[in-house]
Amino acid sequence: MKKMVVANWKMNKGLVQSQQFAEELKTQLEKHKVLNADIVICPPFTSLDALNKRLNGTNVKLGAQNMYYETIGAFTGEISAGMLKSCGCEYVIVGHSERRQFFNETSAIVNKKVLMALDEGLKPILCVGENLQEHDDKLTESVIDGQITTCLGHVSVEDITNVTIAYEPIWAIGTGKNATPHQAESVHNFIRKKLKKIYNEEISKNARIIYGGSISPENAKELFASPSVNGGLVGGASLEVESFLKIINSAL
Ligand code: 13P
Repeated sequence: MKKMVVANWKMNKGLVQSQQFAEELKTQLEKHKVLNADIVICPPFTSLDALNKRLNGTNVKLGAQNMYYETIGAFTGEISAGMLKSCGCEYVIVGHSERRQFFNETSAIVNKKVLMALDEGLKPILCVGENLQEHDDKLTESVIDGQITTCLGHVSVEDITNVTIAYEPIWAIGTGKNATPHQAESVHNFIRKKLKKIYNEEISKNARIIYGGSISPENAKELFASPSVNGGLVGGASLEVESFLKIINSAL
């Protein structure tokens, strides 16, 4: 399976900076030509349309960082899946730990978002992961088990093939302290086992499970080398074209 490298810019880059990044990335990608990774950029909402226009004709896909689970109506400040599609999005990140932590998103809410995204033809990138306390208390597997069970509730066997799961241990996000390849592999294998229980062997084998948390040009190759790690969700190191490209190249 092709590795997938997703940039999550979080609340960084205005319109001009986003456009500059896209132009520079395009120039660099044209030089490198043979790329064996699926690349997705998730900028702030305000840059989606401009990036869509600039990345048109490249193999870089567009994603959003969040969405709401209703289709239309009086939900001030929210963005629907349909709106994201109209800006050229193919993917949407749901259940990022920062959404859970700062905006009180529960797994039940994330489940509604996953279902709505799939209904509207967007591919969710579902984030799961344990916090430091849970990690230290060796609760990683039970936390992930609960998150997956709830977040994937009512997702059909047909639809699950359009879901990417991102394992993002919260203690590794923005801390410079990444999970070791062994730790990532072990949790990814646990997620596969869980998918086998919910769905079947084939779904479990073919599921795309990516890792996120302090991925850098220095550690990407080692993390991506594991067969059960199908790529990465990159925060800080995706903000500069040079480091993002190095990470993409680690996925080849
Ligand atoms: P960092 O790569 O900055 O640790 O962020 C990871 C992340 O949260 C991506 O969604």
